[in-house]
Amino acid sequence: MANNKKWNLETKLIREGLNRSQFGETSEPIYMTSSYVYDSPEQAEARFKGDEEGFIYSRYGNPTVQMFEDRLASIENADKCFATATGMAAVFASLMCQLEKGDKVVSSRALFGSIYQILTKILPKYGIETVLVNGTDLNEWESAIDDKTKAVFFETPSNPTLEIIDIKNVCSLAKKFGAKVIIDNVFATPILQHPFELGVDIVVYSGTKHIDGQGRALGGAIISDNEFYDKLLKPFMRHTGASMSPFNAWIMLKGLETLKLRVEAQSDNALKIANYYNDNPNIVNVIYPSESMHPQFELIKKQMEKGGTILTMVVKGGKEEVFKIFNELDLIDISNNLGDTKSIITHPATTTHYSLGEEGRKEAGIPDGMIRLSVGLENVNDIINDIDNAMKIYK
Ligand SMILES: Cc1ncc(COP(=O)(O)O)c(C=O)c1O
Repeated sequence: MANNKKWNLETKLIREGLNRSQFGETSEPIYMTSSYVYDSPEQAEARFKGDEEGFIYSRYGNPTVQMFEDRLASIENADKCFATATGMAAVFASLMCQLEKGDKVVSSRALFGSIYQILTKILPKYGIETVLVNGTDLNEWESAIDDKTKAVFFETPSNPTLEIIDIKNVCSLAKKFGAKVIIDNVFATPILQHPFELGVDIVVYSGTKHIDGQGRALGGAIISDNEFYDKLLKPFMRHTGASMSPFNAWIMLKGLETLKLRVEAQSDNALKIANYYNDNPNIVNVIYPSESMHPQFELIKKQMEKGGTILTMVVKGGKEEVFKIFNELDLIDISNNLGDTKSIITHPATTTHYSLGEEGRKEAGIPDGMIRLSVGLENVNDIINDIDNAMKIYK
């Protein structure tokens, strides 16, 4: 693979993996092809046997998708990446490709709704036990991880409560029992947090979020070392089929080119907004990974370069007040995606985390007054003016 370790991050984001055709196009070519032709039956046989390098079928691999995979693996300084149709396909495959009946998964409780469903509803159907812990408590991780534990899973910061998991220490606990650590690095992005440097084995992304970052396409990725990729992931992905489309890979490649600029600028906007609302009498709590707004700031400093593009607020009242605020907004979009250049506001209790049920949301610390704001690239004063105007419902 193209993995030019000499290049710095900014250069890799734009140039790594680029594989120009004979026409010398500037931008990455889109190879919209389902399959590939062979010069002879002997060549077809050699490709299937693995004696000759080359593409066979786009479910297995495709030149445009490979450019995206090579670029992302190189950005993470890892061996390999498999691009998937969605972020959830990446989460599911990263677990299922390695687990079997009788295995145990230990995960933090603060999880995106669909991941919670996989861990608590789908895996147990196949005889895989899931234990959920309070991810911020190392003692809980220590007592849950044992020799039955095959995989450890967490998101940090988590969606939407922005809980921070101590990546290095959880990895050390997992290593004692040979369990593989999977991190969902969606909120931090490849720009703000580098999990492999802290001992993680597998990184998963929803490319739908910051990597595309412009609301156009679904996608995901699983990044790992050669051994995990060759022995477990590649065979699973090839035969189960949740591969990324070449067109979506092209969109994701274009997204990577501006990822650092967008994530840094959106994070700067998010910090300004969080600071602005920190003392607002109608806001019970502002959660943002920064010194004055997060109890785990010492840990944040150790593993994140900035606080990220998402902030969470709990407003006075509950669902009724949140809905009134949302209905007054003019600029910020009501949606459930995040990481977009457009600012997006979400009410987790009735959308992304609805499936947890009332009890599940209580356990995960998601009250009805909680709002998640994914801060975009607009002028920060325009975003604040929009929220200020909507907050007039309290007068
Ligand atoms: C933290 C996190 N992980 C994974 C996913 C799943 O990604 P996708 O929607 O691309 O399947 C999401 C989606 O909202 C998410 O927020």
